[in-house]
Amino acid sequence: MTEKIVRAHTNIALIKYWGKRDEALILPASSSLSLTLDAFYTDTSVTFDNSLQSDTFYLNDRLQNKTATEKVSTFLNLFRKPAGISSPALIKSTNFVPTAAGLASSASGMAALAGAANLACHLQLTQRELSLYARRGSGSATRSIYGGFVEWQMGTCAADSYAVPIDDADWDIGMLVVVVNSRKKEMSSREGMKNTVETSPFYTGWLDSTANDLIEIKKAIRLQDFQKMGEITESNGMKMHGTMLGANPPLSYWEPDSVVAMQLVRQLRQEGISCYFTMDAGPNVKVLCRLTDSEKIKARFAKQFNPEQLIIAKPGEGLKVLTK
Ligand code: PMV
Repeated sequence: MTEKIVRAHTNIALIKYWGKRDEALILPASSSLSLTLDAFYTDTSVTFDNSLQSDTFYLNDRLQNKTATEKVSTFLNLFRKPAGISSPALIKSTNFVPTAAGLASSASGMAALAGAANLACHLQLTQRELSLYARRGSGSATRSIYGGFVEWQMGTCAADSYAVPIDDADWDIGMLVVVVNSRKKEMSSREGMKNTVETSPFYTGWLDSTANDLIEIKKAIRLQDFQKMGEITESNGMKMHGTMLGANPPLSYWEPDSVVAMQLVRQLRQEGISCYFTMDAGPNVKVLCRLTDSEKIKARFAKQFNPEQLIIAKPGEGLKVLTK
């Protein structure tokens, strides 16, 4: 029997999703917009097998513990139910992303799992439906169904909070990922955003301004105005981190080397190289740049970081099926 593997790429938000209006349904408090990257992805297969006692989950060839397996099982149940399937599943996933390093492995992981579950259950879901399903696994996964620039529309309810592709990013766009630390982060984005929504006095200001940032960045993308897009990206990311600093207890994912990377980006700009940074719920810094400038920028970073900490990514594609 041929094994069907689904590949999903990670995405980095230029307009961040930070905070939910419904925890259980993963409905965001605001819309967000991301760039899907080719360099980081997850390959997943799901096979139903009645000879298994229960769901069995391998990540990077390692059998996973009860907690990790339960998370996958709960997600799979969303697909098993409409398909009328009750069999246990063998789930095999390979992450080509440093797991939980703020490089959104949950985005590619849950999007690939949604795609593989769809195939195993023969549900023939559309991309939009897959985006709705992926959302239930992890908010950022909603966007990883599509390639290029993608908007996750907050919607009005669980049925219309999905992603839509905005632009295939087939222009001079790249991203240098600076892996400051690839260890698992101490506070998950789920906990971090909950704490921020509940306690940060800056949160309402964030919501007001991020809505406008989204409108403006969509205009910049339409016009292929790289500088404008970069300025909005950098400002939006910093505002998200500002809300965390205002939380109680205060939260920061930054490490000293994160600041070193941010300063280098500012320095490069002063020298006339157009590049902008953004950070997620982790210490790693992502530098949005022209693809044609990316090697030059990487070379400058290589003076302060090891080569294995520096990864150039191009815009990536949406969900796809591979056959082994
Ligand atoms: O999808 P989650 O629950 O891992 O949250 C992602 C949150 C950020 O990465 C910080 C922002 C985003 O929009 O991806």
